[in-house]
Amino acid sequence: MKKVGIITAGGDCPGLNAVIRSVSKSLLRKGYKVIGFKDGFKGFIENDFMEIDDKVVSGIIAKGGTILGTNNVANPFKYTLPPYGSPEEPKDLSDMVKEIFKYHELECLITIGGDGTQNMAFKIFEMGFGVIGVPKTIDNDLAVTDYTFGYDTALSVATEAVDRVHTTAESHDRVLIVETMGRYAGWIALRAAIAGGGDLVLIPEIEYKEEDVVEYIKKRKVRGKNFSIVVVAEGAKRVGGDFVVMRVDEKSTDPIRLGGVSYKIAELIEKSTGFETRVVVLGHLQRGGIPTSFDRWLSTCFGAKAASMVEEKKFGKMVAIKGQEFIEVDLKDAIGQLKRVDKNSFEVKSAISIGMSFGNKEIE
Ligand code: F6P
Repeated sequence: MKKVGIITAGGDCPGLNAVIRSVSKSLLRKGYKVIGFKDGFKGFIENDFMEIDDKVVSGIIAKGGTILGTNNVANPFKYTLPPYGSPEEPKDLSDMVKEIFKYHELECLITIGGDGTQNMAFKIFEMGFGVIGVPKTIDNDLAVTDYTFGYDTALSVATEAVDRVHTTAESHDRVLIVETMGRYAGWIALRAAIAGGGDLVLIPEIEYKEEDVVEYIKKRKVRGKNFSIVVVAEGAKRVGGDFVVMRVDEKSTDPIRLGGVSYKIAELIEKSTGFETRVVVLGHLQRGGIPTSFDRWLSTCFGAKAASMVEEKKFGKMVAIKGQEFIEVDLKDAIGQLKRVDKNSFEVKSAISIGMSFGNKEIE
């Protein structure tokens, strides 16, 4: 019986279970045996796995997180044994990767993850093994796909937050800042600001000028608007400035953790305008809970597409969506390139045309 392994690796996000369910249901119906490795590449290297049958995946489409667990530290090619704080030098465990494929006689490993995970997947493919990637990240920053699953849910959470701070900002005549995740891409912040009716939106792709931020907020007051809503991506930075780094997680596959830029912006606004300013950092709220219907739909189609690629032996590829089409792209093209907001795009122009600001008059 042909056997396929599934792994969820990197940070979690809503829709992971929907992909696991879809891949498994599709393959089980075709007579494949399916196993899931636990906690990302940690479970893979330690051969910690569970059998996946119909019962295991029943009722999980709406469940957030991942029934397999995940891990954003374990990398088979630079492996540090838990506990991750240990001073041990990372080891290349390529031989173990070979062992695991041999032990299970795996036809293919489905790697559900973001950029870091697909990098490792590509290395495993280069070793001669069957690998198929499924693109996950709330940041929506993978270059070769229009959407990654998880993004729509994060966007909904962020939009609801922008909606909710409106009423309290208005009641108190305050400036309310909502900080979103997204790393070096502003997709969550931009679309939450547009959908939630935000006033000022600061994203990594358009560096802001402090004087333009202050002037915009002051002008709103002159126009009789006693409150302002600011949406800030965690990767926002001022012209010539640096990213605000919250922590450096050396053991992680992607060590830099951004966060906290909105406190700097709050200080700037309060000091320069005298308007009372409050900050809400959304953090992991954007990654938790049930996936939206869009993410459930996307995850299900991604999973079914990955399963069909297993049957066709289209290895070394990743599932993607372009327009209305579900397609396959080479893993080597999927990794290492970011998809970021284009400051000349129609959506940026739309925001400007309705009077929103990006904190930089040069583009307005
Ligand atoms: O890539 C997804 C993401 O949620 C980013 O938006 C955020 O910067 C980062 O992961 C947070 O990572 P962690 O969960 O390790 O703090």
